Amino acid sequence: MDFTLKYKNIIKIIEIELKEFECRFSERFNSHKSRINPVLFEYFSAKGKLLRPVLIFLLSRAMNIAVEESQFRLAFADEMIHNATLIHDDIIDSSKTRRGKETLSYKYDSRLAVLAGDYLLSMALGALSSFNNEHIIQIHSGAIEKLINGEIEQYFNRKELISIDSYIEKSKNKTAELFKAGLCSACVLGKRDDAIADTEQFALNFGIAFQIHNDLADIFSSSLKFEEDINNGIYTAPWIFYMEERGLTAIDNIEEALNDLKKTCSVSRTKELIGVYIKKAIENLEYLEDNQYKRALIEICRLYIEG
Ligand code: FPP
Ligand code: MG
Repeated sequence: MDFTLKYKNIIKIIEIELKEFECRFSERFNSHKSRINPVLFEYFSAKGKLLRPVLIFLLSRAMNIAVEESQFRLAFADEMIHNATLIHDDIIDSSKTRRGKETLSYKYDSRLAVLAGDYLLSMALGALSSFNNEHIIQIHSGAIEKLINGEIEQYFNRKELISIDSYIEKSKNKTAELFKAGLCSACVLGKRDDAIADTEQFALNFGIAFQIHNDLADIFSSSLKFEEDINNGIYTAPWIFYMEERGLTAIDNIEEALNDLKKTCSVSRTKELIGVYIKKAIENLEYLEDNQYKRALIEICRLYIEG
């Protein structure tokens, strides 16, 4: 069974919550409130995994917290922030495709794509401010600052072979911090402040593993995203391990380098690194009592080692 099928099987236990979420979601963009809505409606027709809402719903249920209006709004806000970052990231990376479709910046232009991302951010702000909860706002503003700084770091370090530790720090900032914001806010909403510290560690470790997995998957995908990264001088974990092993400081011929990379220990070292962070993430979930939602969270973690 492939990654997507296994993932779909795991999340069946929150099928009702996800259907409700998707329904509310498409209603927001299937309106004429703004001229950007049809553009965004079309953009969202290529579905992502909805991983942030999934984790928020599973963690809430694992803590015996019902998924209601507040959890839907939180999941919506984080899915908006996530997609705003992707739309802006595609401009920065000059990417032509995402989720098998043309990016907004390629299909239209970067002006409209900047505005589309900004619009999603405004929706996220609206949803977050509706909680009237300073803690949730603080968690999110801190995460967004780190996320943007992660991307700024990546910009200034481009064309440089960074160390694996710097790569992990960057991944923590640009990816894991948003998982942290969503999951810690789910604890706040459920009045489980006692669970915030463990949840934070879980989110950070899972988020780092997720980003490394994403970077490794790029190498084997037909999307040629890794070519864009290398052309932009961005070296991810498999490339860092490869270049270290071969004593290289730059990649000249991408095709040749990819063939050569597959002959080195780079892929196995990258998988080992994912394993280290997934193991920590699973350990961080020990505070949850055993139930089907906790087991689903663990199964999702394990997917990132197998897949
Ligand atoms: C995808 O990484 C990008 C991110 C996780 C963060 C991007 C952040 C910005 C562009 C800053 C803008 C921030 C806001 C709040 C609008 P990737 O390039 O490794 O993933 P990919 O392979 O899916 O493109
Ligand atoms: Mg990118």
